[in-house]
Formats: sequence, C-alpha cells, structure tokens
Amino acid sequence: KNFLLGLDVGGTKCACILGAAVSGGGIEILDKVKFPTAEAGTPRQCLERMAELGLELCSRHGVAHERLRGCGVSCGGPLDSRRGVIQSPPNLPGWDEVPAVDILGGRLGIPVRLQNDANAGAVAEWKFGAGRGVRNMVFLTFGTGLGAGLILDGRLYSGIGDSAGECGHIRLAPFGPVGFGKAGSFEGFCSGGGIAQLAAVRVREQLQLGNRVAWCPSPEAIPGLNAKIVGDAAGAGDPLALAVYAECGAYLGRGLAVLIDLLNPELIVIGSVFARSESLLRPAMERSIAEEALPGAAARCRVVPAALGEAIGDYAALALALGEY
Ligand code: BGC
Ligand code: NA
Repeated sequence: KNFLLGLDVGGTKCACILGAAVSGGGIEILDKVKFPTAEAGTPRQCLERMAELGLELCSRHGVAHERLRGCGVSCGGPLDSRRGVIQSPPNLPGWDEVPAVDILGGRLGIPVRLQNDANAGAVAEWKFGAGRGVRNMVFLTFGTGLGAGLILDGRLYSGIGDSAGECGHIRLAPFGPVGFGKAGSFEGFCSGGGIAQLAAVRVREQLQLGNRVAWCPSPEAIPGLNAKIVGDAAGAGDPLALAVYAECGAYLGRGLAVLIDLLNPELIVIGSVFARSESLLRPAMERSIAEEALPGAAARCRVVPAALGEAIGDYAALALALGEY
C-alpha cells in the first residue's frame, strides 16, 4: 500500500493529487486535477466530485484500490480534525459543519485524515522541505490567508480544538488592512489581499496629489490591484510598489517577532507570497524582527521561503495521507 490521495480544498479551486510513498520516506507526485470550487455545487457535491476524481486518477494510472494507503484533506480553518468536520472557514462560504471525512471515507473506502492547510503545509515542509531534521519550527502560509502550522518538540501541535497557530487573527496595529473583519490583523497585512489593500491606500494618496502611478493609472484600476501587479512593479524598481512591499515586510517581521518570543523556534518557513517575493520583503522584515523580538531568540531563528515552492499545497495534502505527524 504505497499510493496516496491528497485533496486540497481551497476557496478558489479544489485539487486532487495522486502520489506515491517512495523509499527513504519521500513522496512522489504522479498526477493532479483541479476544478473551480464555485463550479461544484454544494459542499457535499464538491467533496463527492473530489472523491470521483481521485478514483479516476487511480484507474488512469493503473493503481488498484487495495494499493491505496490513505487520503489526506487540507483545508482552511476552523475545522475539527478529530471529528473530521469542516466548520465554516472564511474562504468557503456555506461550508458549515461539513462532515468531510465521513463523506469522503464513504466514497473512497480508505482512511481519510483532515487537517488545517497551514498545519498540513508545516508537516510537508518538515518532512520533505526546508524543515528536514528540525524539531521546532513554524510554517506560515502567507497566501490568500495567513495561518501557521507549529511543529514543537518533533510533532505537530494543534491545540485542544485545532486553533493553535491561527495567528492571522493577532492584531498588529490599531488600523490597517482588514482580515477576518479585523483591521490591522497579521492576516490583514500579510496576505495577497492585504498587499492589495496596502497598495490601494498608497496609490490613492499619490493620485490625489496628482502624481502618476504607472501600474495603477486611475482610481478605477484600484479594485483590480493584487499582490502580483504590485510585485511585478516592485521587481521593476518602482519606488511606490517597493514601499508597499516594505510596509508589508515590516508588519511581517512584527508578527514573526511575536512567534519567535512565544515559541523560540529554530526555523520559520513561509510560503506563497514570501516564497515568490522574498527579496522585496526581507530587509524590512529583518529590521522589525531586530526591533521587536528578544535578541537571543531572534539570533537563533532562521527565516526561509518554503522549499517546496508552488507545489507545497500538493505535498501538504499527500503528507497528511502518509500520516506520522
Ligand atoms: C484561516 C486559517 C488558514 C489560513 C490560510 C486563515 O484565514 O483562519 O485556518 O490556515 O487562512 O488558509
Ligand atoms: Na494551524
């Protein structure tokens, strides 16, 4: 039994991944199919479709059912991993108390394990990425949302109800971009949407002063801003776009300082936006860490981008199927 199914349930898209456990404890990704979450109908229909696709992937690759070890399901919180229930995550409207493990287990007939996406990402980076051999580390998603997965003393720490690591809710400033309906939160600043919100404020200021912004020429273009547009402009040296990333990086460092002081980790691994735009964020991030964190703890903590890069979501779901965390 060395084949694995991974399901990544996201607000925008759902992915179904077929993988194999290989010798030496690794995972190989064999194939993947995706569909837009909004297309799938009710949560139950969406999960049933994912199970169908998983079984289809198996037959396409000649994987007999008895060779499937298990299925891992990665999803934004809140959720209850013990009961296998998804509990209305902000990015999945209408997914209230969805018994995902029962639904999927009934269709697939193999063990199914549900986990918070940040926890799953932490397990993946710990087993297969930047955290190999490390016993105390934090993984941060920094994508559409911000969540953390905590590996403490060599195992995943998820708290009494899977809320450990929900650091996106922590308020870093009394004002600022809104995440979770809360202005100035860690997720408000450090998410794709957060960067767009920071950029919107800075662009509006410049336009009101009568200055030209090449990457957002008019107020009508502001709602269309996203982290990629700002990142491309910053990468090309635009000073305003660079300032937006620096502002984000400063708050990132502030949030990391809280995690460093609280957990004294050896390593912090950060995904998506950080993995793509590390050089734009790092200088301001390091300044904030130096200002805010205990110097001894900060000196011993490395901050690195996710080694699994864009494939982290796939590895995350498969790592859950493999178990052992
Ligand atoms: C959720 C977390 C999740 C994170 C990344 C946050 O909004 O509260 O549970 O890990 O987004 O998807
Ligand atoms: Na978490």
